[in-house]
Amino acid sequence: MSPKSFLLSEELHDYLVAHGSAPDEVLSELIADTAALGPVARMQIAPEQAALLTILTRMVDARRAVEVGTFTGASALAIARGLGPEGRLLCCDVSEEWTAIARRAWARAGVADRIELRIAPAADTLGALPPEPTLDLAFIDADKGGYRSYWDELVPRMRPGGVLLVDNTLWSGRVLDPDDPDPDTIAIRSFNDHVAADDRVEAVLLPISDGLTLCLRR
Ligand SMILES: C[S@@+](CC[C@H](N)C(=O)[O-])C[C@H]1O[C@@H](n2cnc3c(N)ncnc32)[C@H](O)[C@@H]1O
Repeated sequence: MSPKSFLLSEELHDYLVAHGSAPDEVLSELIADTAALGPVARMQIAPEQAALLTILTRMVDARRAVEVGTFTGASALAIARGLGPEGRLLCCDVSEEWTAIARRAWARAGVADRIELRIAPAADTLGALPPEPTLDLAFIDADKGGYRSYWDELVPRMRPGGVLLVDNTLWSGRVLDPDDPDPDTIAIRSFNDHVAADDRVEAVLLPISDGLTLCLRR
């Protein structure tokens, strides 16, 4: 199995990455720098998710975007690249250490001026945002127990036609086990049920990497 997808063999994952937009030098360096951190590196999004984030950001012509869970900055780099020079991305994280790596990559890629990073619990950052529906794109990829509250803060702030993406929604397939006592599994299962019942959005759960829920705000 590929370390980036419990659904694909390593060979098939490599093939898929090689037949999409390839990671450029900055993203490749960031993947290597993150791998050097050890096992936490598995929190980084997969390269094909980075390509998808850039494409979707461009497709919705996003100017205002929010990310919850930045880590070493790969997903933010992908979104910022899709925004264009006038666009702005607000990043939420609690780690100075990991996001220092992110800041260096954003500077190397020439997108640092599009990104504002707030080091604080994301619930506080999101709760303080203006209530108007002005966001074009949002990406949730932080602590799983917080997903429901991040969703509830973000959905009303999305403009009609805006896109929400949520990572790890298949949780290595553990979502299928109703007896899994792990709090993160319980949180993801409950979050997925919440999204499926939310008629403010159209939703599809894509089997890309660890599961990526893609939603369009009605
Ligand atoms: C899975 S990683 C994000 C990976 C990132 N999207 C990427 O592309 O590399 C989760 C991140 O969420 C952050 N995090 C955890 N709890 C948080 C909270 N309450 N508020 C904001 N960020 C949080 C962690 O510090 C970590 O960097």
